[in-house]
Amino acid sequence: MPKHFFLETFGCQMNVVDSEQIVDLLRGMDYAPADRPEDADLILLNTCAIRDKAERKVYGHLGRYKPLKAVRPGLILGVGGCVAQQQGEKLLKDIPYLDLVFGTHNIHRLPDLLRDVEIRHRRGHALEFHDRETRLRLFPQRSGGEAVTRFVTVTQGCDNFCSYCVVPLVRGREISRPSGEILDEIRQLAASGVREVTLIGQNVNSYGVGVPGELSFARLLAEVEGIDDIVRIRFTTSHPKDLSDELIDCFGSLKKLCNHIHLPVQSGSDRILRLMNRGYTREQYLDRVRRLRRVRPEIRLSSDIIVGFPGESEEDFADTLSLTEEVNYVDIYSFIYSPRSGTAAVKLEDSLTAGERQARFDRLLKIQEDISRQWRERDAGAILEVLVEGESRQGQGQLFGRTTWNRIVNFAGPRDLIGSLVPVHITQVYRNSHLGCLVTDQAPSHG
Ligand code: SAH
Ligand code: SF4
Ligand code: F3S
Repeated sequence: MPKHFFLETFGCQMNVVDSEQIVDLLRGMDYAPADRPEDADLILLNTCAIRDKAERKVYGHLGRYKPLKAVRPGLILGVGGCVAQQQGEKLLKDIPYLDLVFGTHNIHRLPDLLRDVEIRHRRGHALEFHDRETRLRLFPQRSGGEAVTRFVTVTQGCDNFCSYCVVPLVRGREISRPSGEILDEIRQLAASGVREVTLIGQNVNSYGVGVPGELSFARLLAEVEGIDDIVRIRFTTSHPKDLSDELIDCFGSLKKLCNHIHLPVQSGSDRILRLMNRGYTREQYLDRVRRLRRVRPEIRLSSDIIVGFPGESEEDFADTLSLTEEVNYVDIYSFIYSPRSGTAAVKLEDSLTAGERQARFDRLLKIQEDISRQWRERDAGAILEVLVEGESRQGQGQLFGRTTWNRIVNFAGPRDLIGSLVPVHITQVYRNSHLGCLVTDQAPSHG
């Protein structure tokens, strides 16, 4: 009987990629995936510490798995990712039924930790940070699998120390992977059927900065454009302070670059941006947006916004609302400020109540809902180019893919279209996805 694992992944793209590595390691140890935690011999949580809510989820889920241990005494329970990195041994102390904890620089140690539990019944942890050379050496070899679209890591860690953010504390300093390795990986992915890559890092725009002889991020994108079987390129996340003219110009020269950029602004108030240590002003941000639209008029922008940062006045918040309207984002991800231990912002004077924060959050959401709806309705009736990613969950000959703007489209079609760019007539627009009809005799009008 093979052993089974159940892996839950929280948080951002970095954790998604890390979980792929975890799955590869577990397969190498003869573990097969289980559909439900009840069927697993090993349950792992890959965790996120970005906000208190994300962190509490970890404790909630562990609590749910506790009774399974009574039913299956051999069941192994482990925690990895950003909460593991931050809480470390405290997790093992607080949760007596937890077997192992591994941090963000120690995914490769998982097999050792597992064997220690399996053979010697010894609980363990691996939490130390490694230097740049070690981290570069530990980058996993990846396989394409069946996927049409994949994330490719270009930077790890973050040096920006935005005053509210735990990422630099849980991921360590920023390193850039050598461009040769990144391009080799993309070529291999392309050879196994991948058609779209999303280059990922906490701040991809600072790729290669300070590394002698390394390509700039813009030059790296140009190299990816040259890989034949890749038809679409995306990247995330872009820090506005590092969005250079050279990178903006890529939207003019690189045809495979999608018409979408996630450019988190966090706040529309200069005073708050300064307190956040973001390194740009409202006007500098808006200038970047105008340039992007000049170079690529069809581009759509999305953003992250933090509501209720310590000391945010009604006037500061009004600046965020006006910026949101001015930029006309296709989507925003808004978050109520959550104090994170070890960050600079926890020391700031903060008199806002939870009710005030929630009321502002609701106002922002309402404004953005209208804007997002208008964007969706623009797509209704259009014929858009869709990269077909797979069979949709509805099954029954239904496929799904994405537009250049990263919206999901469901439509009926044969399986052999998976991996192709096809024109789809958008017939219905819903909140989270579009419904469409495959066009068989016409070129797309957009996208
Ligand atoms: N590296 C990316 C974002 C990483 S975290 C960037 O710089 O844009 C994703 C988002 O979580 C952030 O953009 C921010 O909006 C939000 N976030 C981070 N820390 C937060 C906190 N303490 N409270 C609320 N939201 C937070
Ligand atoms: Fe956090 Fe700022 Fe780094 Fe993004 S750029 S991960 S918000 S510190
Ligand atoms: Fe969360 Fe860690 Fe990503 S804190 S947002 S999973 S880097």
